[in-house]
Amino acid sequence: MSEPTKVYLKDYTPPVFAVKNIDLDIKLYDEYATVYAKTAYERKTAGQFVLFGRDLQLQSIAIDGQALDTADYAVDDETLSIHHTPDEFVLETVVKIVPQTNTTLEGLYQAGSGDELMFVTQCEAEGFRKITFFPDRPDVLTEYRTRLEAPKRFKTLLANGNLIDSGELDDDRHFAIWHDPTKKPSYLFACVIANLEVLSDTFTTMEGREVLLEVYATAHDIDKCHVGMQALKDSMKWDEENYGCAYDLDRYMIVATSQFNMGAMENKGLNIFNTSCVLSSPETATDERSFRVKSVIAHEYFHNWTGNRITCRDWFQLCLKEGFTVFRDQSFSGDFRSKAVQRIDDVALLRSAQFDEDSGSLAHPVRPESFVEINNFYTLTIYEKGAEIVRMMATLMGKEKFRQGTDEYFRRYDGQAVTVEDFLSALASADERASLFLPWYRQPGTPVVSGDFVVNGDTVTVNLAQKTRHVAGYDAPIALPIPVDTAIFDGKSGKLLAQKMLLLTQDAQSFEFEGINLDADSRPVVSVLRNFSAPVKLEFDYTNEDLAFLVAHETEGFNRWQALQTLINRWLAGQTDDASFILSSLKPAVSKLRESDPMLAARLFDLPSQKELGMAYEENYDPAKVKARRDELVQIIADGLADVVGDWYQALPLVAYEDTPDARGRRLLRNILLDIALTAKIAQADTWAYEQYQQAGCMSERFGVLSAIINHDLPRKAEFVADFYDRFADEELVIDSWFSVQAASGKTSVADIAALMQREDYDWNTPNRVRTTLGALSAKPVQLWSEEGLQLYLSAIERLDKSNPQVAARMLGGFARWYTLEEKARTIAKQYLSQLQQVVSSKNVLEVLGNMLKDK
Ligand code: ARG
Ligand code: ZN
Repeated sequence: MSEPTKVYLKDYTPPVFAVKNIDLDIKLYDEYATVYAKTAYERKTAGQFVLFGRDLQLQSIAIDGQALDTADYAVDDETLSIHHTPDEFVLETVVKIVPQTNTTLEGLYQAGSGDELMFVTQCEAEGFRKITFFPDRPDVLTEYRTRLEAPKRFKTLLANGNLIDSGELDDDRHFAIWHDPTKKPSYLFACVIANLEVLSDTFTTMEGREVLLEVYATAHDIDKCHVGMQALKDSMKWDEENYGCAYDLDRYMIVATSQFNMGAMENKGLNIFNTSCVLSSPETATDERSFRVKSVIAHEYFHNWTGNRITCRDWFQLCLKEGFTVFRDQSFSGDFRSKAVQRIDDVALLRSAQFDEDSGSLAHPVRPESFVEINNFYTLTIYEKGAEIVRMMATLMGKEKFRQGTDEYFRRYDGQAVTVEDFLSALASADERASLFLPWYRQPGTPVVSGDFVVNGDTVTVNLAQKTRHVAGYDAPIALPIPVDTAIFDGKSGKLLAQKMLLLTQDAQSFEFEGINLDADSRPVVSVLRNFSAPVKLEFDYTNEDLAFLVAHETEGFNRWQALQTLINRWLAGQTDDASFILSSLKPAVSKLRESDPMLAARLFDLPSQKELGMAYEENYDPAKVKARRDELVQIIADGLADVVGDWYQALPLVAYEDTPDARGRRLLRNILLDIALTAKIAQADTWAYEQYQQAGCMSERFGVLSAIINHDLPRKAEFVADFYDRFADEELVIDSWFSVQAASGKTSVADIAALMQREDYDWNTPNRVRTTLGALSAKPVQLWSEEGLQLYLSAIERLDKSNPQVAARMLGGFARWYTLEEKARTIAKQYLSQLQQVVSSKNVLEVLGNMLKDK
């Protein structure tokens, strides 16, 4: 096997030719499509003329109207080179492509079927080269004019920008011509050929321009686009108010497709969305998914400034647009619900998935130095840790200075393709401490911050130290700037006495709080890393009493939740067998919050996932042992609440649907309480479950209880599972959750999951469907690491490697820490992963497997 080629950040060179403009003409036929491209090039530096192109059949090629001879150029699997060109010229090419058989969901591809058949594009990162020959790299920006031609049964013809002409043609065909006045990189190109309905609205920008807003979906789904439309309007307003960023084109379109590799894509003026991230209605989407729709719509909209108007110089800078945009969408979401709960969600994802990535064989810096396949780097590290770095700078700088810095960023770099250094230098113009953060982009691994405090008279000294593991292949880690938001409370009165944003920049440092005046016989309680002010693992020397105090008195919602999580983690890690601290903190806190903040009350029941708990092991990891301990705590908590849980559940009757944070909190809390009542074996709980299912007024109520019925294997389970399927048989996304809720249950065996995957409605070409079972299996380590689990999962990867390498590689992420398993399981895992390496061929999967097995 030849080593796949790696590209390095250090090898970056600017483009040899600039593109003045491009005219595309895409003609769709029943079995193929042709793409005519007329592109004006202008030399910028010395070097060869080379374009990228993959899976293209070249039909004709001409320079300035003169057809080229085959001796004038060379085509291989990846490129087209022309040996001699003028310094300025117009290239015309015609290529044939076959979107009908393109299962990679990259480039132009077919999605859906029957009346819902459609053709859409996904060009980020390097999909445009599967449409035509082009310098397909983000630092080549140009103006696009796109003509689309297709049979009239595809009434929807969309591309970026403004519609400038359309009309009928012979043979039942028609066309549309679009022009995008903004210069953009090719990864933001998009077109859609489909038969869709549209929901329209308008938005007037702060500059007084009216923008047409359109959400396109199939006739069957168009009634589920209102949540998305509202989210779009909210996002547009929010970006004006918080960043001074207004929308720039006359039209903003969103198109929903059922086959999509990721969540959504920010193509200029024409976003393309996975249906799961845009469709929502109370009857078909849980609150969780509906909220996700809102945040993904915001994310893609925010890219218009952070990504599109200012883009990345090269793909190593991916975090420049993704990290900042995730930070922006998280801030937006926090403005539409409790900020603490938003932070809890974001941190929970970071800790359960990004820390996992950063602690295993796929660890990489937020700005990688090399890659084989860029699609493998759309990772939690680049997105979520990238967002955390921006957040740290924003936290440290404060609202005003941060805004000053981002204003400067937009002012300086609008219309350009830039780097992380450019971003930091703009922020540093407002607060020079921003420039300290570059090492965060370069150094992989999660820092561990440890600490304690000492009291001396009225001075409290907080001691902090940091350490980051040395990841093989990188320089020895250095100390990073770590903002640690710290508060001191009076342990008796509960009063907040002091608060400071400490900045740890050395390996170890001490910080003094003077003038701490305590009540008589009181003690100070220190709370550190409030609101999770840095993406680190914290080992602070809290006593259990301090933690219990913080659950009751911490005024900052995140750390209040965290204090309980720390107590829970200590028990799960076996540091104590006394669960009384957990119960005696949890019970009064929930009792107090269940009326005033039901969402936060519900979140107090959070337990780290099995997978997250596995991260504590560098060797001898036994998933069964971890699961048993976790199950035990679930039972202890349920038994400890048995006397109140029934009353609490019944105090939350089903009421008419409302989409408010409070109503969502009540729905979530109700489902959790029901689950606890079932675990505690409360006599009436089965009946409550059946009744809630039958009386449910929305998907959150119905799905939450279906999940409890399945997880507890209630006697009438089969009946409800069948009912749910029948009710929603026409709703693909609901059927996805029907698959996943069964696959995820602890009562479902690997063989049961295999049976789900044998069903006729398990469609291997729809990533959403594939993710239902494989996603659930990877969240169940005991099953995943069993021989049948590995067999099932990895044979699915083998199959996807051929049809959709991007998805195949992504789905392998959960195996990155295989080497930490105890001996026997480790040997088996290694054997399966090595076998897989022999039979796969995509560079996506090979790169991931190579990294996983290297030196192990
Ligand atoms: N830029 C998109 C987003 O974050 C993600 C698309 C990436 N797609 C891919 N196939 N790599 O919203
Ligand atoms: Zn993004």
